[in-house]
Amino acid sequence: MGKVSKRVASILYMKEHETLFSCPLCQDSMHVTDDGHVICGNHHSFDIAKQGYVNFMIKPSTSMYSKSLFESRQEIINSGLYNPLQQLIAKLIGEEAQIILDTGCGEGSHLERIAKLLPQDVVAIGIDISKEGIQSAAKFYEQKIWCVGDLANSPYKERSIDCILNILSPANYDEFSRLLRPNGKVIKVVPQSDYLKEIRTQAFANSEKESYSNAQTVQRFKEHFTNVLHERITYTMPLEPRLVPKLLEMTPLGWHLQEEIALSEITIDLDVLVGELSI
Ligand SMILES: C[S@@+](CC[C@H](N)C(=O)[O-])C[C@H]1O[C@@H](n2cnc3c(N)ncnc32)[C@H](O)[C@@H]1O
Ligand SMILES: [Zn+2]
Repeated sequence: MGKVSKRVASILYMKEHETLFSCPLCQDSMHVTDDGHVICGNHHSFDIAKQGYVNFMIKPSTSMYSKSLFESRQEIINSGLYNPLQQLIAKLIGEEAQIILDTGCGEGSHLERIAKLLPQDVVAIGIDISKEGIQSAAKFYEQKIWCVGDLANSPYKERSIDCILNILSPANYDEFSRLLRPNGKVIKVVPQSDYLKEIRTQAFANSEKESYSNAQTVQRFKEHFTNVLHERITYTMPLEPRLVPKLLEMTPLGWHLQEEIALSEITIDLDVLVGELSI
């Protein structure tokens, strides 16, 4: 028997987990049909694409992230630059979580790599508003639920998620609170002051982009969640010359640079916030 197509494999996988879905238009439960539609009791229907993802956007959105930006992000992430971060996140997720949702997952490499680090089997779901990002995720990473959608109005059931990841992406805490199971947690990653400092110092000396503070973001997180754990992760890694243009393309800091900059190493400096629902 031949290998089943990507679409058929996704239909089967999503069908197995169909109780996770909730209609983004009417919040009704959803069912996955054998011919690849995710459909609610009020007949709102979303197709599983041939690449193996579902588009839940009600109207198309424009994104500042292009296909080639996601290719660069994928190359940088798979070069290992974020391995220590992914290891920390896997440790913080713990061994109990079974349903993990990455909100603003981009091209999916963090979720793929984090899921592989966990000792348990998990159902990994990625949502991003960018179709280019999700298409890339679905192309490379199988046995996951990839959705184009707005993280502020997500197509998942209330109290269905054990752990929400939110890595360098916008958040919506009301929606996260709706989605989390009672003992669930949110893990949010935000840049700290030395994140990619080698780009900042060369490209933006003496301008406001040279420095950065995440204080407001951290404060907002602490207001919304309880038992908050706050860890900072900082390290500098050598950067192969072939990766320099990729790094400059994957971050808005590298866009519109007037002159070439030299980078032989790069600093990762991030805050990792973990919080639980306040009841
Ligand atoms: C800086 S990228 C981070 C992507 C990924 N987490 C990573 O670290 O590689 C921010 C991501 O948030 C996504 N995003 C922005 N607004 C969103 C929304 N309302 N719903 C879902 N995703 C959103 C963007 O499309 C983009 O992929
Ligand atoms: Zn509906």
